[in-house]
Amino acid sequence: MSDDAQPPKWRQDFPIRWDDDHYITRRELAKFLTLGSGLIAGANVMIAGIGLSQPAPRFPEARIATASEVAPGASMLFRYPTEEDACILVREASGAFHAYSQVCTHLSCAVIHRPADGTLFCPCHQGLFSTDDGRPIAGPPTRRLPRIVLEQRGAALFAVGVEA
Ligand code: FES
Repeated sequence: MSDDAQPPKWRQDFPIRWDDDHYITRRELAKFLTLGSGLIAGANVMIAGIGLSQPAPRFPEARIATASEVAPGASMLFRYPTEEDACILVREASGAFHAYSQVCTHLSCAVIHRPADGTLFCPCHQGLFSTDDGRPIAGPPTRRLPRIVLEQRGAALFAVGVEA
């Protein structure tokens, strides 16, 4: 009679109850995680492939000034590549031209030329960019200003592209 109170021997060796057997096993979890990771990696490769196969953006050519319109040390505003994109053309004292987007890379205020120290200044948070290459040299901006690619044909200056 006392044998009825004891669980059978097989239950001691296999102690999983019938209603608990739907819980996921460690092996199934490992399989799920491996397959899930593989799918995510495959999707990333596919997205990278799509991105690389996109053609580079093409920019229009736009005549923006005549060289003699901008004196050495001076600057001029223009719009490129669309009428919504404010840009600034700077002529160094040496006569070299540089052009950048006028939109500050911090919080999008308009930068202005400071010929006294050869910088582009953002009045919103005192950001400062070099006119040589558009890199940030002071204040909160961490990214350089997008450069407008220029071509000089005779006396005329053309904008032909944007380098972010
Ligand atoms: S928006 Fe130009 S420094 Fe903040």
